[in-house]
Order: sequence, then structure tokens, then C-alpha cells
Amino acid sequence: MRKIAESVYWVGVVDWDRRLFDSLVPLPDGTSYNAYLIRGSEKTALLDTVDPAFVETLFSSLQHVEQIDYIIAHHAEQDHAGSIPHVLQRFPQAKIVCTPKAKTFLLDLLPVAEESFHVVADGETISLGNKTLTCIHTPWVHWPETMATYLAEDKILFSCDFLGSHIATSDLFVVDQGRVHEAAKRYFAEIMMPFRSMISKNLEKISNYDIQMIAPSHGQIYDQPAWILDAYRSWCSASAHNTVVIPYVSMHGSTRIMVDHLAAALIERGVSVELFNLAVTDIGKLAMALVDAGTIVLGVPTVLAGPHPLAAYAAFLANALRPKAQFLSIIGSFGWGGKTVETLAGMIPNLKVEVLEPVLCKGVPKEDTLAALDVLAETIATKHREAGF
Ligand code: FEO
Repeated sequence: MRKIAESVYWVGVVDWDRRLFDSLVPLPDGTSYNAYLIRGSEKTALLDTVDPAFVETLFSSLQHVEQIDYIIAHHAEQDHAGSIPHVLQRFPQAKIVCTPKAKTFLLDLLPVAEESFHVVADGETISLGNKTLTCIHTPWVHWPETMATYLAEDKILFSCDFLGSHIATSDLFVVDQGRVHEAAKRYFAEIMMPFRSMISKNLEKISNYDIQMIAPSHGQIYDQPAWILDAYRSWCSASAHNTVVIPYVSMHGSTRIMVDHLAAALIERGVSVELFNLAVTDIGKLAMALVDAGTIVLGVPTVLAGPHPLAAYAAFLANALRPKAQFLSIIGSFGWGGKTVETLAGMIPNLKVEVLEPVLCKGVPKEDTLAALDVLAETIATKHREAGF
């Protein structure tokens, strides 16, 4: 147990070794599963649990705790709720406090009994004696059932996944703001971005509380929380940056020549570019770039009469993440023909983008293709200016 405020303790686990979440999301810096214990004068609450692989570590932290009255379940996903059945075995009198939707999820996902629940309405308070918990429904960060808890006496918001980051570290509080900013942006990009309009509403909702500290369930605790709230507001906002993200694949170098030519033409026109070779890129870095970009240009060669599968993967990912980009185009080389543009266009129905004229060429790009790429760069620069990026 590590104290973070008077009678408030971190009882989480640092997972130094984890490198992948959901068999999908890269975790270059590991992660932590932060659970917290609040000891009031009358009652004790455990806020979230840990990934069940680490339940013994949690029990080691709780070895001198004789009673838990409430298990606050902010979120039903395994990494926070998965150890609830184990905690209930040891503290059978504890009630699971959660939103009505979380109750249905937890009943589906875990072996827990219906009578173990105490469902809370939005804004409902729970008294621990000298500590008061306010349960704030914060749906869609990043599941529909999510909730945060505000501890009034200490002005701490326990936000679960919301505002978190994947970092394994022995420092409980933010030390290196730049490092945490990058990790939190990666985290936002990978799982929060599709829900940014709901997250904006939740940001507004929590602004009604005097928050001196934010204690998420992954990563470090913010004892100066203003900057992470500002960062989230920026990531959620509709305004994009004057940047073009170019995820690309090249089989024989022709698409790469096109990508390099377009990138140089954009830079010449004052537009920033971020290139990602999909054969080697960290997909999390690509997701981060998509948070702010005004335009996406897919560089894709044709193979087996359609888009290269790595480009199809990037298109699928962008469609799922729903970034704020307003413009999109496709460039690439083909050998003899195919339906690359049509296939990709059918894969991105969620993107509310204006599609700019694609530039495709047969084999190695020649003067007419390079001229068409210059036109595309000019169009993008003009569109960005007009959009105020
Ligand atoms: Fe950290 Fe959505 O679980």
C-alpha cells in the first residue's frame, strides 16, 4: 500500500513486461493496473481491482486490511474488474458499486451474484464516514458503462481508463510530463478517439468538480491535472492540424517515389507530413498521428488486383478509429490493373472526409504522375488554408 493522500492508498500492480493489449495495441512502456483503497472513519472502499493474473499481488497489498465494504467498479473490462470475484471471496460482505449498465456487463462477464451489487445513479454519493464518494457516470470512455469517482474531502478524481496512460514505472506521480503526454496521447488514439464527442461531454461534466488530483487506473497520477485535461480537450476538439499523415506500403519502390514526391511538395507548401511505412511501423504511432491530422493520404500498391493487405489494414484501422481528418486521398503504383481505389473506398464508411482525386500510375512514376502529385499537394494546402488548419 502506497499512500497518495490521507487514508487514500494505491494498491495497484505495475506490469513491466506487457507489450501488447488485446493482442492488438502495442505497449512499448508496459502498463499498470491501478487500484486504490480509501479508508473512511466508518467504511472502506476498494476502487477497481487488477488484472486477475496479478490478484496475489493485490492481496499482498491488502494483507492487513480486515474489511472492505465497497468495491467501486468503474469499468467492467477484465484488467480492472477481473479480480472482483477473488476479492468477494475474501471480503464476501463487500458490495460492488457500479452503474446500472456495468451491473449487466459484470453479471455477463464474471461469476458474481446479483445480490452483491449496489447500483448507483449519476451523482449519487456514498459516505465512508469522514470521506464522501460521488459516483459520476462517464459513459463511453471507452465502454458504454464507465464511471468515475470524486473524493470530495481530498478533491481527487478516480477516472479509471479515462485520462490514463500505459506506463510501467515505480513513480506514482507524474515526473516527466513530456513522457506521460506521449503515452496518454497514444492511449487516447488507440482506444478513446472513436468516442471523442462523448468524451468531450464527460470533460465538461467533470469540470463542475474542484479537481486537485486525477488518479487513473493505468499510468501515473496527475497531481497537477490541468495539462492533461487541456490535452484531452485539444485531442477531442474538431480542429485539425496542418498535417498530412501518409501511411504507405511499397513493393518495388514506385509507390515510395510517389510518397516522397508528395511529401516534398507538401512541405514546400508549408504543410507538415508524417510518413509511416506500414511494413515496419508501430501501429500506435500511426494512431497518434491520426489524432490531429487534417488529411490522410494512403500510399498503396496494387497486388492481386486489389490494395496491398497492409494498406487495407491501415484503412480498416482508420475507419475504426474515426479520426477528425477532413480530407483523404489515395496514391500508388500498379502493374497491370485492379480495383484498389474502389476496394479501399468501400472500407472507410465511418470517415466523414472529402475524397481528393487519387493519383495512380502504372509501374515507375513518370513526369505526368509527378505533376499530378504536385496538383494534389496544392489542393491539400489550399483546402487546409480554407479550413483554417
Ligand atoms: Fe483498462 Fe478498458 O480497460
